[in-house]
Amino acid sequence: MMQTVILGIETSCDETAAAVVVDGRKMLSNIVSSQIDIHREYGGVVPEIAARKHVESISFIVQQALKVANMSLDDINGIAVSNGPGLVGALLVGLSFAKSLAFAKKLPLMGVQHIYSHICANYLTDETWQPPFICLVVSGGHTHIIEVADYNKCVILARTRDDAVGEAFDKVGRILKLPYPGGPEIDKLATFGNATAVKFPKSSFEDSLDFSFSGLKSAVFQYLQKNPVSTEEDIANIAASFQKTAVDILVANTITACKQKGLTSVAIAGGVAANKGLRAAITAACSENNFSLHLPNIEYCTDNAAMVASGGFYKYKLGLFDKYNLNAYPSIDI
Ligand code: KG4
Ligand code: ZN
Repeated sequence: MMQTVILGIETSCDETAAAVVVDGRKMLSNIVSSQIDIHREYGGVVPEIAARKHVESISFIVQQALKVANMSLDDINGIAVSNGPGLVGALLVGLSFAKSLAFAKKLPLMGVQHIYSHICANYLTDETWQPPFICLVVSGGHTHIIEVADYNKCVILARTRDDAVGEAFDKVGRILKLPYPGGPEIDKLATFGNATAVKFPKSSFEDSLDFSFSGLKSAVFQYLQKNPVSTEEDIANIAASFQKTAVDILVANTITACKQKGLTSVAIAGGVAANKGLRAAITAACSENNFSLHLPNIEYCTDNAAMVASGGFYKYKLGLFDKYNLNAYPSIDI
């Protein structure tokens, strides 16, 4: 059978990434150049710097992805690129590059929505994993519970009403004076902190599985004002307590969504899906409820282009090609 080889390109935030994936499932290369060290100095991503760094790296990263996959552009069947949501200046770099390549080589172009591509990370680690399932998408910009009814049919069941959970991790990290981004730092500290040391409030809404994390972030801030921390143990206890509170809400609402929809398969996606506490808690909850669970490999959780290529493949299969004048959309729903 003929194989479909997709080149994926991702520049929605602070990672310049390119990948080659066969049939939406088999990763041949996955090159990610992170700008985190540059943005850390400013305590967060500086959009203008992100865009400029993408311009400097994109050509080399795409060449690397082809080289590692042992392919040339002549072996590629289509080009998939993130075109939103994200930082518009950053998105435009990858998009312009992808459009130029597609135009020059007369290849189909598939714009891939960024949250959708995070969900597709799950197809890269298990060749048999398929819809329907419920996906908890947790990243720096989004917190969604999504019913993945089919490869190209996603329905948002719940979303955050304020901060994304990754954003809450990063803000709490800043409050605790940890390096940027706070998420992985809190994850590390939480492994030796006591998660029951501080009781933080859990938010919930009547008749809705929506999330709210800004109150939790403020609760950590207020706790620290009243109880200044002195030891590393104190900080680890706060990190562990905050993480457990956030994770408990994410897991509880995901399980309820499954029950409401009569679905018994669960996946997670996005940068926060790398979190050890979340992975352990969702594993325990799924086994308790006899649900099947898929956890994507860590390398596919944070921003990468293999997930974009996978998402592009499922558009390619349906002939859902975009025109070469495709635009970038900083906020576009799945
Ligand atoms: O998906 P992603 O790479 O970019 C967006 O699309 O936003 O997610 C980045 C987010 C950041 O907020 C980062 O702190 C968080 O994912 N993150 C983590 C972990 N690794 C990354 N949060 C908690 N625990 C982690 N291990
Ligand atoms: Zn992302």
